[in-house]
Amino acid sequence: MLFRQLFDPETSTYTYLIADTSDKEAILIDPVLEQVERDLKLLNELGLNLRYCLETHIHADHITGTGKLREITGCQGIVPQNAQAACADRFLKDGEVLQLGEIPIEAIATPGHTDSHMAYLVNGKQILTGDSLLIRGCGRTDFQGGDAGILYDSVTQRLFTLTDDTLVYPAHDYRGQTVSTIKEEKQFNPRFTGSDRSSFIQLMASLDLANPKKIAEAVPANQQCGKVSATI
Ligand code: FE2
Repeated sequence: MLFRQLFDPETSTYTYLIADTSDKEAILIDPVLEQVERDLKLLNELGLNLRYCLETHIHADHITGTGKLREITGCQGIVPQNAQAACADRFLKDGEVLQLGEIPIEAIATPGHTDSHMAYLVNGKQILTGDSLLIRGCGRTDFQGGDAGILYDSVTQRLFTLTDDTLVYPAHDYRGQTVSTIKEEKQFNPRFTGSDRSSFIQLMASLDLANPKKIAEAVPANQQCGKVSATI
């Protein structure tokens, strides 16, 4: 299996490239529009065939690269069940497994950051947590149907119940961290250690964060799989 973590510095977004090296089938998870050329170049260099683009959720901070990649490569665009993106080719529901060659990618419903957010367990060993669980943090819960109590349940009941050595790969990091484990996050994540459900809800309500710079353009564009006006 090939597993690559790619970074967009403008929005601190991680995109993941996963491929089955025997049949050369590849998937991109959470691609970023501005990085489509980078991704296509790498796919080409590695001789990979892009089968799928998969989203953990409808993003508010960047526009997905899925629409452009789908246009160029003919790949399928896949989003979580109930995500408001009617343009998607396929919707994954909780527990459903997307098979990439020999590699199983299991959808785990982890709402709370947004109402239709999914994490993806790759090969039973690596969890792509999207914006539900970040390294020593978690995604915000103050828009797009976000709900702090529901996020607390998702993280503690769906992610912290994975085996301790499961590798945690988030959709963002703002401090240069790249990977963690479930064991580490249970021990050291300040949003969850020592807080019960109600204190977590209080903490999330007190964050008072500014809106992401691109929210006004990103959410509607992502609901159309990354289709934006003629400038692209
Ligand atoms: Fe997000």
